[in-house]
Amino acid sequence: MISISRILLVSAFVAAKATAQSHTGNLFYFVPGLGACGFTNNNSQVVASVSAAIFNSYPGATPNPNHNPICQHRLYVSSGGRNVTAPIVDYFEEQGRDYDVGLSRPGFETFAPVSTGVVYGVNWIIL
Ligand SMILES: *[C@@H]1O[C@H](CO)[C@@H](O)[C@H](O)[C@H]1NC(C)=O
Ligand SMILES: *[C@@H]1O[C@H](CO)[C@@H](O)[C@H](O)[C@H]1NC(C)=O
Repeated sequence: MISISRILLVSAFVAAKATAQSHTGNLFYFVPGLGACGFTNNNSQVVASVSAAIFNSYPGATPNPNHNPICQHRLYVSSGGRNVTAPIVDYFEEQGRDYDVGLSRPGFETFAPVSTGVVYGVNWIIL
């Protein structure tokens, strides 16, 4: 007999995957510290940052960024056949960059040396 809870778990997972929306933007590199989510990270950890627009419009967002449900999610970034999945820990506020994303050094270096500064046209999804 197949367990009902198992079926529900699988369908919830499929629904979550199906609603995750893919975006394209430019990838930059940032130095993490105490981020908007309230976590303290360092430059040897692989962590991610999204724009204030994406962060603040995430379902369940409130004025307290520490309680934003996006802080429990990970960012999947892919480009040129490579990919990185990293916890979302912070946001950045720059005009016209709503669909850009940031990764700390070890994540960025999966795609390019940090000296290049930017990787254009990466695809990303909030998992
Ligand atoms: C970065 O933080 C992690 C987790 O707290 C810790 O294990 C690691 O030693 C830290 N690395 C540096 C270079 O501070
Ligand atoms: C993501 O990268 C890993 C290696 O880091 C690889 O094993 C995996 O197949 C990649 N996934 C996709 C969907 O390309």
